[in-house]
Amino acid sequence: TSPGTKPGLTVVLAEPRGFCAGVERAIDVVERALDRFGAPIYVRHEIVHNKHVVETLKARGVIFVEEVDEVPTGAVTIFSAHGVAERVEEHAGERGLKAIDATCPLVTKVHREGRRYAEKGYHVVMIGHLGHPEVEGTLGRIPGKVHVISEPEDVDGLNLDHPDKVAFVTQTTLSVNDTRDVIDALKRKFPSIVGPDVRDICYATQNRQTAVAEMAKHVDVILVVGAKNSSNSNRLRELGENIGVPSYLIADADAMDMEWLKDAGRVGLTAGASAPETLVQGVIERLRGQCEVDVKTLNVIRENVTFKLPRELLDDPQPSQ
Ligand code: F3S
Repeated sequence: TSPGTKPGLTVVLAEPRGFCAGVERAIDVVERALDRFGAPIYVRHEIVHNKHVVETLKARGVIFVEEVDEVPTGAVTIFSAHGVAERVEEHAGERGLKAIDATCPLVTKVHREGRRYAEKGYHVVMIGHLGHPEVEGTLGRIPGKVHVISEPEDVDGLNLDHPDKVAFVTQTTLSVNDTRDVIDALKRKFPSIVGPDVRDICYATQNRQTAVAEMAKHVDVILVVGAKNSSNSNRLRELGENIGVPSYLIADADAMDMEWLKDAGRVGLTAGASAPETLVQGVIERLRGQCEVDVKTLNVIRENVTFKLPRELLDDPQPSQ
């Protein structure tokens, strides 16, 4: 037993947690493409933001690239769940790549929304984190200049030519509460602004945040399993912290510092939308190696969302052997 860790820890598992329908679909797309076309398959950007998922697929012959330039002519290329700019798709076409789009349908919906606003002559503002691949993809789908903002203070700096013709869209994986504040600030400055309320934030992001907020009432420490570059995982950690419960983002069990738990009797455990359940179970296993662990599940919201596969992968002409 490591020093300071007391026996008799209760682990409270948030439900829902972990994989969302968009991530399940994206991984399924890559696996089916491997079965159908054989290795190597190229994937632009991490298919989902999780090293363990990426490493597992690499072992099966997937090659990850950052740009389609790196893909040999004619090769099968998959766009990640985060979506891509239109020019990336065009470029893949020019290069003769066989492209399969694993963009989450909820991201594609935001692309469509943004484009529709722009076509109607609205100036589009995007609430999101500049540099995140989803934001880059969405910007590359909306014609004209799009301003990206992430905090209410950013609204002050927005000087738009036609303040009465402004629309907004959001990244799908933001904090529900923070986004509401930004939208309120936008509404104060541009009273006639149009937009989707906070509905661009996807169901999975919202539900995982609701579950963490509920879980926070019952635990002393929160562990969020997820990657550093996973937006929705970071938001879960922040939410726990804002509620006043020490919260840590960990890539896997090895990243957990037992010191964090030394005064804890109840540990809340959740996972971002791109983190596999095996990693969550790995955390429980590691805790079990230290002390007696009682695992309880806190069911907050029931989910049953699934998305259809891209057309190219729907009808398998060769029945699997
Ligand atoms: Fe899609 Fe939301 Fe997951 S946008 S990929 S369902 S986190």
